[in-house]
Parts: sequence; C-alpha cells; structure tokens
Amino acid sequence: MKSYSVLALGLAAALGFLATSACAQTSSDTFPPVANVKQLMLDLIHPSSNEILLSIYRGGPKDEKDWAAVRRSAVTLAESGNMLMMRGRARDQGDWMKDAKLLVDAGNAAYKAAQAKDNIALAALAPSFDASCTTCHKQYRPNVFPKDGGSK
Ligand code: HEC
Repeated sequence: MKSYSVLALGLAAALGFLATSACAQTSSDTFPPVANVKQLMLDLIHPSSNEILLSIYRGGPKDEKDWAAVRRSAVTLAESGNMLMMRGRARDQGDWMKDAKLLVDAGNAAYKAAQAKDNIALAALAPSFDASCTTCHKQYRPNVFPKDGGSK
C-alpha cells in the first residue's frame, strides 16, 4: 500500500513535469510580446538607465525613496536584458545574446548595490552601463551610432 502511494506520487510528479514542459514550449506563443525592441528601448531601457545615471551624477541616492527608485530601474534593466533575448526580439543567437547579457549583468549589479545602499559600488557601475548599450548599438544599430554615443 505504502509503495503504491509512492508510485502514485511519482507518477503524479512525472505528469506534472510533462505538463510544465508542454506549457513552457507554448508559452511564448500563448503570451506574445507586447513591445518590439524599439519600444523597449524607448519606454523601459532608456528611461531606467537615465534614472540610474542621473542619480549617480547627482552624488548618489540620498534616502529610501531614491534607493527604491534605483532598485526599480535596476531590476527593469536586468529583466529588459532577458526580454531582449526572447524569441521574436533576439536578432541572432550569438553576439546579440552576449550583448543583452551585459545589460542583465549591469542591471543585476546595480540592483545588488541598491539593496546594500552602497553608493560607491553603484557609482563604479556607470561605465558598465554605458558599455552595455554601446556594445550592442555598435553592431546592431550602425545607422545611428555614434550619433548619441549610445549612453543615452
Ligand atoms: C542587445 C542589444 C541592445 C542593447 C543591450 C541595448 N540596445 Fe538600445 N537599441 C538596440 C537596437 C537594435 C535598436 C534599434 C531598434 C529599432 O530601431 O528597431 C536600439 C535603439 C535604441 C534607442 C533608440 C530608439 C528609437 O527612438 O529608435 C535608444 C534610445 C536606445 N536603444 C537606448 C539604449 C540604452 C540606454 C541601452 C543601455 C542601457 C541600450 N539601448 C541597450 C539594441 C540594444
């Protein structure tokens, strides 16, 4: 009896796993992207990186509200990097993915600095923010680059 229920549990787990992987396969079709790459740049990525860089240039976050704003922008940037890697947005599986990962890493590092309220660590990240934009723009936005330097 006991071993029977263990078997049943195992079976249920296996079925659950199958159902999950089936869902994972169709999720990107079931939940189609709302914004294209340009819209992500304009409405999520550019404003978020601006907010963080401005905060750094003004001497860093001063109070809880400032730190919360930096955390919000940092997590937005990190997750935007992931969104750039989604099917339908990724231009290829090579450099594009590496460049988008730079954005994930920069956002992630800023998020951690903001959680720790570490102004020095945050300020030290400014160059990686610039680099995360320009690296990708140099290759995938050649018609515009270097008009805005990629840092805006
Ligand atoms: C993985 C690649 C990639 C990364 C990383 C990236 N961009 Fe972009 N960005 C693009 C591409 C491609 C375009 C052109 C989109 C189009 O016109 O369809 C673009 C366009 C833009 C535009 C212009 C949108 C318009 O008006 O046409 C801005 C502003 C921008 N990016 C800001 C940023 C900033 C700021 C960062 C870094 C914090 C960044 N991007 C990181 C690929 C990237």
